[in-house]
Formats: sequence, C-alpha cells, structure tokens
Amino acid sequence: MVPHLMKLQKLMLRAAANHTAIPGFNIPYLPMMVPVVNALRDTRCFGLIMVARLEWTKFAAGGLRQIFDAYQAVKDERYTRLHLDHVPVIDEDQLPVEYDTILREAVEIGYDSVMVDGSRLSFSENIAATRAIVDMAHASNVPVEAELGAVLGHESGPLPPYEEVFATGCGFTDPDQARIFVKETGVDWLSVAVGSVHGAIAAATRREKKLEARLSIERLDQIRNVVGIPLVLHGGTGIRKACVLDGIQHGIAKINVATAIRQPYEALMDSEPERALEAVYRATRDVIEKDLELSNTADLIHIGDTQDCF
Ligand code: 13P
Repeated sequence: MVPHLMKLQKLMLRAAANHTAIPGFNIPYLPMMVPVVNALRDTRCFGLIMVARLEWTKFAAGGLRQIFDAYQAVKDERYTRLHLDHVPVIDEDQLPVEYDTILREAVEIGYDSVMVDGSRLSFSENIAATRAIVDMAHASNVPVEAELGAVLGHESGPLPPYEEVFATGCGFTDPDQARIFVKETGVDWLSVAVGSVHGAIAAATRREKKLEARLSIERLDQIRNVVGIPLVLHGGTGIRKACVLDGIQHGIAKINVATAIRQPYEALMDSEPERALEAVYRATRDVIEKDLELSNTADLIHIGDTQDCF
C-alpha cells in the first residue's frame, strides 16, 4: 500500500509505538482549515483536522458536510486526516443529542475517524452507547474514540477549583473502569481525564485565558497498563509543557488543541481577516514546534517502527 494512504488506525498505533503523538486541531471557523493544513505540512507534522458538534452549533463550522467538502479541497494525506471530535450523547447544556444519526452520517460521508462522547452518562450507559457506535463504525473500517471520566470546561457554569480537582482526582478516569470499558466496547482510542480541562466555549468566557493544567502521570500509567490502546488527551491548550511531553512518553498518542488557535483567530477575524489567518498559521506552528515538540513526526508515523507497542 502507498504509505500516505495508510489507514488512520495504523498510523495511530505507529505513533503510540514510537512514543510520539498526533495533534488534532479543531476548526470552529472554516477559513482556519487552510492555515492549519499549511502549518502541518510546513513542520512535517502528521495531524488531524477536527470538528466537534459544538463547532457547528456554537461556532461557525457549518456542519459535517461543509467541513468534509472544505477538507477535500485542501487535504494532504502525507500530513492530514479528518476526525469528527466530540459528538456527545448528552451535550454541554445537558441536552440529549441525536448522536447516532450524526455519527452514522460522518461515517457515510467519509470521515477518517469519529468520537462518541458518552462521558455524561452512567458507566453502563456509556458502555452501551459506545459499543453500538463501535459496531456501526467498524463495519466501515472507521476507528472510534470514546471518553471515560470528566474532562471539564465545555459546560457554561464555573469550574470547580482546579487545585481541588487535581488533588482529589475527582472525575479522573478510573483504571479498573477503563479496562472494563475498553474490553466491553472494543473502542480504538480512549480519551482520559488525568488533569487536563477543555478551554471555555460559552460566549461569556470563551475569550478568557486558559488556566495552566497539569497531568497525573501516575494515573496515566495505571490506565495505560490495563487498556492496551492509544490514549487521547483533550484540553491540549496551555498544559504545563513538561507534563505534556511526559504524557506522550506515557501513552498519550493524540492531543486535541482548540483554544490555542481559535482565540488568535477570533481576535482578528472581523477587523483584519487576512491577519487572522496568519495568526492561526503562527499559533498552529507554535503548538507543533514549541508546546508539543512534534515537528517532523510524519516520517516516523508513516515509516517508523511497525512493532505493536501493546
Ligand atoms: P483546548 O480548547 O483546551 O485546546 O481543548 C480542545 C479539545 O480538547 C477539543 O476536543
């Protein structure tokens, strides 16, 4: 098979086996996609273009089809794939979502991977919802990400005090549950709660600077040791650098980044749209080169060690 057409699941396993990570960049405004793809190509970093449901309900991404069509026009499969991020079963406003319809449509349209987010459900409900989506997506060879534990931040209310959450591990992914969850659902990648938080998306707070989160590497190890699949870190903006780099060495194979590239775009999009695009390009490069140190990972992921790390 031509290397650049290799399926995304294989590339994720390669990333994990080589102790590197695939960054995923959220696109809440369609024009942001071009500078993100350019930044990935120019840094020779393999990454994902992502859209989450909230990006067409609360921002201006348009919808599944618009994002897909825009992606077809600019994709470069040496460096990019298209991922459907967070499709919640219960959304950030506590409302039920027709998640299975959205996910099925994404698989039919041709997204390379999808995420079902049942993290606001009970454990057994999350298993049932995730398993049904895995069955549906795997029938089309599309890998599925799911979430277990509470990565907070998208809700509109105030966050509980961060230090308290971190010290108590409240909402962190439970390793025993993670083991059962992965076995029962057959999910491909697991988003874990180990200290990161999402950047705010509520209109009143979305422009605020994010707090500097940390990660519990101890908890990450406990999870990694029992699940045997690539782990995903949400809330990738503004995590203490030493923690993120450590996290990549301890099983994180995908890191989601939204706020770091959205805020510079929003600051300029109405007044100076051209400069807003440049700001996205620069911010994406900074995340790749400085924050995550993921330049030049495309070669490693396409032709690196094929040995399974699990
Ligand atoms: P940040 O906004 O903190 O970068 O988080 C993005 C994210 O996790 C999207 O799924």
